[in-house]
Amino acid sequence: MSIAILTGASAGLGQSFFRSLVARHPDLTGIWLIARRRERLEAMAEGCPIPVTVLPMDLTDPACYDALGDKLKADGVSVKILINNAGLGELDNVIDSDWRTQGRMVDLNCRALTAVTTVVLPYMEKGGFVLNVCSIASFCPNTRMTVYSSTKAYVMSFTKGLREELKPHGIHVHAVCPGPMKTEFLDVANITDRSPMFKTLPYSDPDAVADRALVKAGKGRCVYTPKLLFKVYRVLAKLLPHSLMMKFCKT
Ligand SMILES: NC(=O)c1ccc[n+]([C@@H]2O[C@H](COP(=O)([O-])OP(=O)(O)OC[C@H]3O[C@@H](n4cnc5c(N)ncnc54)[C@H](OP(=O)(O)O)[C@@H]3O)[C@@H](O)[C@H]2O)c1
Repeated sequence: MSIAILTGASAGLGQSFFRSLVARHPDLTGIWLIARRRERLEAMAEGCPIPVTVLPMDLTDPACYDALGDKLKADGVSVKILINNAGLGELDNVIDSDWRTQGRMVDLNCRALTAVTTVVLPYMEKGGFVLNVCSIASFCPNTRMTVYSSTKAYVMSFTKGLREELKPHGIHVHAVCPGPMKTEFLDVANITDRSPMFKTLPYSDPDAVADRALVKAGKGRCVYTPKLLFKVYRVLAKLLPHSLMMKFCKT
């Protein structure tokens, strides 16, 4: 039993990852899909050549981490691929926001990603990989997305640290750092029609991002940044003071 687990499977990039998993890893004996919207996950499972297990979970509820651990133990599976994709953003100054909105990002993007990874790792097989969905927002803080970019900086740091820890176990850890994609994320984060920067940036195709990320993660690459512009941005963010970068990269 060699399975893949995908969080945030019910929309956007998650659905793209699901299609790529099915196409690129027909050897999987199962795919576990996690998100809150059960009916969407069940629709995805229909007709899939690989058996799909639908796990409707709110990953901001800590009870689900033990539930996931119990199921892994009961089913006696080994995990080849874990994709930590669930995430959300919010476009607002912290001072104009409330702690619940800001805290939800920390809970989902950081705590849930950490907890799910910690629960799944003991079941992962040698040669498998963890794929964390990060963002170009991890390279440098973005005003009006201060908490979101901080959570993605955590994801990047977590990826690099865990990658070193897991080398002796033969498990790779990867971070994909996409720029904007036209998914529900933009409405959920209140970005649509509220950010001149998001109107000017080039958009990536989620199907292409997911597919390339799966390939790169499988080859043991640490970080994948789609699009040349964002690769350049990543290098600049390493070279220039963030105080300067932030003046030109206002979201
Ligand atoms: N779109 C972009 O411009 C962009 C750019 C860079 C990085 N990213 C990253 O890409 C990843 C996927 O985002 P997306 O663009 O595909 O966004 P999306 O279309 O809004 O999808 C988000 C997914 O996360 C799930 N989710 C949200 N809250 C959850 C919760 N509490 N518990 C369990 N699942 C939850 C959603 O499912 P339910 O609502 O059914 O729970 C959905 O499947 C995120 O990590 C995001 O930060 C996005």
